[in-house]
Amino acid sequence: MGLGRAIRKNFVANVSENYLEIHLFWAGKGTCCIPVQGYYGPLISAIHVASDFVSTVPGILPSTPGVLPSTPGEKSKLGLIVEFLGMGPRPNTFSYAELRSATEDFNPSNKLGEGGFGPVFKGTLSDGRIVAVKQLSVASHQGKSQFVTEISTISAVQHRNLVKLYGCCIDGDRRLLVYEYLENRSLDQALFGKSNLRLDWPTRFSVCLGTARGLAYLHEESRPRIVHRDVKASNILIDGELCPKISDFGLAKLYDDTKTHISTRVAGTIGYLAPEYAMRGHLTEKADVFGFGVVALEILSGRPNSDNSLDTEKIYLLEWAWTLHENNQSLRLVDPTLTEFDEGEAARVIAVSFLCTQASPMMRPSMSRVVAMLAGDIEVGVVTSKPSYLTDWNFKDITSNFLSEEDRKQRGDNSNSNSQLGDPIPSPVNVTETMLGGIIGDGR
Ligand SMILES: Nc1ncnc2c1ncn2[C@@H]1O[C@H](COP(=O)(O)OP(=O)(O)OP(=O)(O)O)[C@@H](O)[C@H]1O
Ligand SMILES: [Mg+2]
Repeated sequence: MGLGRAIRKNFVANVSENYLEIHLFWAGKGTCCIPVQGYYGPLISAIHVASDFVSTVPGILPSTPGVLPSTPGEKSKLGLIVEFLGMGPRPNTFSYAELRSATEDFNPSNKLGEGGFGPVFKGTLSDGRIVAVKQLSVASHQGKSQFVTEISTISAVQHRNLVKLYGCCIDGDRRLLVYEYLENRSLDQALFGKSNLRLDWPTRFSVCLGTARGLAYLHEESRPRIVHRDVKASNILIDGELCPKISDFGLAKLYDDTKTHISTRVAGTIGYLAPEYAMRGHLTEKADVFGFGVVALEILSGRPNSDNSLDTEKIYLLEWAWTLHENNQSLRLVDPTLTEFDEGEAARVIAVSFLCTQASPMMRPSMSRVVAMLAGDIEVGVVTSKPSYLTDWNFKDITSNFLSEEDRKQRGDNSNSNSQLGDPIPSPVNVTETMLGGIIGDGR
């Protein structure tokens, strides 16, 4: 180590239980700014481990130094197994004071919104970065170190279509998350809210495709693989270039208590829930595929998945979409405020959405296939069966089954936990029936 010359540093460590852990800490030295000429650090060219005793184990040469092998897990000459543990980027931690000043003491005028986890505030860090600070209000079951580990895992997962998590703050019982701020806010506001953003067809199609790519990455490429569990229009944010970014991925896992989280949700989330997940807690990445199918139809039609102000046959988006499809009028679903759109692309979005919202998770495509189908690289499979989803009405029916015993007592609800096995509710799309029919498989 050093500037053009080697520096050797010797450390003596007592090794017990055959285990030596070496932590490397970057002290922040070295040039980081291009194009100004300088020396780029840090650099460690070798780590050399040697024992100072004579081994009593035959076959191992104790005097041969152990140099870190190039492949993690490879056995060195010393009989050393080297593993690179926890080498991922550490999460940035912020002090509470820093976030308080960034958000002007969590001033209500900076409040961006509030979801199931707690309020979100806009803020400006001292280095000028504009951030969204999420105050987690749900009591976490995780200890401090587990929380930090989880945050570092989530912040290491990066993709063009995922919102960046800058770091977190732990202050006593307080837990806050700091995200990059996306100036065009969430897709639900752009589509059905007061936002002035007008999304034309090419933008809508690219939002569909980008969201699908982000999910494909989470499911199939990121390490660890992540099932989002809460894919919906408010969790898709839009940046200044109208590029979609998925937010809140990995969050549900922090609070592995999805039941209470979902039960505190407003009805809006219900329409995105895959039936097997809502009713049996059976979770695979196919639950996200279902949520994506619903979001894609919302993007195309410019209306939310359920809207009680509409005529009865139009209240549930999937139901209405299927009715139009059966009458060979699928394209009538496209948002009437769009003056022009590509019919081929729109037809693909509709057909893919039907595939994604099939009752059986096995019938739903993987997200990488969704990307390929949307892009027109592969044929969209023929959809023969009606999508299946929960309505507000049958959600109420299953809630008692979904909540824990304690939750039920708190709500003064004495209903039998198998109540959903009683008379199926006459809803437009009868999920209960599907469940009883045993069509739902194991997710893949
Ligand atoms: N990084 C961000 N940049 C800009 N706006 C954001 C950001 N994160 C959240 N918001 C805004 O804050 C609102 C609330 O977000 P939040 O995630 O708490 O709620 P939600 O998405 O409605 O529900 P959920 O808790 O299920 O995620 C969002 O609808 C969005 O408008
Ligand atoms: Mg959210």
